[in-house]
Amino acid sequence: MSTILSAGIVDAHLIEGTDAEPEIGHSSPVSSNQQSNHRQLAKIVSKHQKISYLRPIATFSRSEFDRIDEIVNASRSSVILDSGCGNGESSRSFAAAFPDKLVIGIDKSDARIARAEVGDTLPNLHFVHGDCVDLWRLAVQARWPVWRHLLLYPNPWPKAKHLQRRWHGHPVFKHLLALGGCLELRSNWEIYVSEFAAALEIAAAKYVPVKRFFADAPITPFERKYAASGHPLYRLQVQLD
Ligand SMILES: C[S@@+](CC[C@H](N)C(=O)[O-])C[C@H]1O[C@@H](n2cnc3c(N)ncnc32)[C@H](O)[C@@H]1O
Repeated sequence: MSTILSAGIVDAHLIEGTDAEPEIGHSSPVSSNQQSNHRQLAKIVSKHQKISYLRPIATFSRSEFDRIDEIVNASRSSVILDSGCGNGESSRSFAAAFPDKLVIGIDKSDARIARAEVGDTLPNLHFVHGDCVDLWRLAVQARWPVWRHLLLYPNPWPKAKHLQRRWHGHPVFKHLLALGGCLELRSNWEIYVSEFAAALEIAAAKYVPVKRFFADAPITPFERKYAASGHPLYRLQVQLD
């Protein structure tokens, strides 16, 4: 049985609060000029809740969305989104573990999506080359039945001036929340997860803990690299429906 299946919802193979030290690797921890949550976080998140985000949808995102939307509409399954799926390792594991769900891996990198598409075909696994900023808005409009949403090691944008490039500081955040489902965020930068938790309080009145965990069976290449480098890992889970 796969670790994900046996865990029910990916948790069982994560040892929370463990002191166990993974093997040391060669990745540097996130370095930032922030030592705590950004001072402008509440202001920015509140502002984004009040405005309509009108950036035009890119043509390539639209055509990719239409392709996958047909599959979603034709299926009776609910959806697991793996946003920023990289080489698709986690999408593939989830598709194998949950054959009754439609797993959709999204990444804006051509090269990563091309790598993701290499490997065994699974009938419930699909990859989309596109920008989440567009695809999430289209998926909300189309009312995709999202059951789980994975945000595994998003780019941290650690410079304070880049707050609005982090998902919780971006105007698309409210659309991300509107997608619904059980959202899981993982990062090797505690402040990213802590800010995301604070943004959830502001935007959705959801109060969720940030947990440190040890990935004894990493589910993505970045998780594997960070674990092997001895980085502490953090995550949160929130039910958005
Ligand atoms: C740090 S990597 C993590 C990849 C994978 N989840 C993992 O853990 O191995 C972040 C990924 O997010 C993708 N990404 C960043 N911004 C994106 C966006 N706006 N839309 C889609 N993908 C995005 C990048 O191309 C990259 O593959």
